[in-house]
Amino acid sequence: MTRPMVVRDASLPAAVTIYEVGPRDGLQNESAIVPLDVKLEFVARLVVAGLPVVEATSFVHPRWVPQLADAAELVARLPLDGPVPLPVLVPNERGLDRALEAGVRHIAIFASATETFAQKNLNSSLDGQLEMFEPVVERARAAGLDVRAYVSMCFGDPWEGAVPVDQVVATGRRLLDLGVSQLSIGDTIGVGTAAHVQRLVGAFAEAGTGVDRLAMHFHDTYGQALANAHAALQVGVTTFDASAGGLGGCPYAESATGNLATEDLVWMLDGLGIAHGVDLDALVRTSVWMAGVLGKEPASAVVRALA
Ligand code: HMG
Ligand code: MG
Repeated sequence: MTRPMVVRDASLPAAVTIYEVGPRDGLQNESAIVPLDVKLEFVARLVVAGLPVVEATSFVHPRWVPQLADAAELVARLPLDGPVPLPVLVPNERGLDRALEAGVRHIAIFASATETFAQKNLNSSLDGQLEMFEPVVERARAAGLDVRAYVSMCFGDPWEGAVPVDQVVATGRRLLDLGVSQLSIGDTIGVGTAAHVQRLVGAFAEAGTGVDRLAMHFHDTYGQALANAHAALQVGVTTFDASAGGLGGCPYAESATGNLATEDLVWMLDGLGIAHGVDLDALVRTSVWMAGVLGKEPASAVVRALA
């Protein structure tokens, strides 16, 4: 069988947007530097496979993430005016300057819901990161860019343990107040479970932030990513971050492993009869090719089954 049987659950959304993060979150954790031409082909193949958004790279400090030190060269050769948005991560004004110079149209800032990870990932405090982001969002919007915001460590933090739901909502609300269009709720170390996901989405709703402003960003460290995505569908979430082949992890988060694999998400959505626009076969071929380049087995169960 190369496709699941379709059994539509009318209580779930009819269509979702998959926000592909493979070239950024997927590759940032790889220690062997991937050649620029391979990265370009990766992005191009993901676009051809029908992914509606492909996060391409990061304008962070090259010493912090050496794999993405070629961000400007990469972006210079990407079709930035094409129909598929190709956002990049930007942590600060220096990153924004570089992104603007490169002609980027979509950026994502990335915040932490915890004090410790703000220090580890951004060399900043929880409050300090918001001060750092404020001029970034203001200037980016004035230049006509779309700005998304990630919130990391929303379900648990390797240094601080459990993270209170209210703390996540408060951080998310401060980012929305800066003027970002969408919040991506990150389970950076993959410790969240289904009811926790629904409680967090509910807490955002109680605070006035509906599911139309939220995306879910699951890592699969504890094998919960797909179950958590299903739980999020049940409460109406329609944007999901995923990484081709299940690549990924954050070099500054202890125990973070791969993202929810795009193929695993697509298989589940296909079975549920939820539209997503992605060509699963083209995507699997892309992940098999990338696994060959990286010299490792794809983490995605669906890729392994179909390949
Ligand atoms: P810092 O060392 O505090 O930087 O790092 P600084 O502001 O003190 O500046 C020091 C030097 O760096 C200066 O140069 C700056 O110009 C330069 P000098 O004057 O010494 O020659 N600099 C830069 N150069 C290039 N690009 C820049 C930049 N900024 C400063 N953007 C900084 C602060 C934020 C830069 C650093 O902490 C950093 O780059 N962090 C990025 C870490 C990262 O990329 N983590 C992975 C992404 S987050 C993630 O994966 C989670 C997510 O997937 C969601 C989830 O799963 O939860 C999004
Ligand atoms: Mg991530």
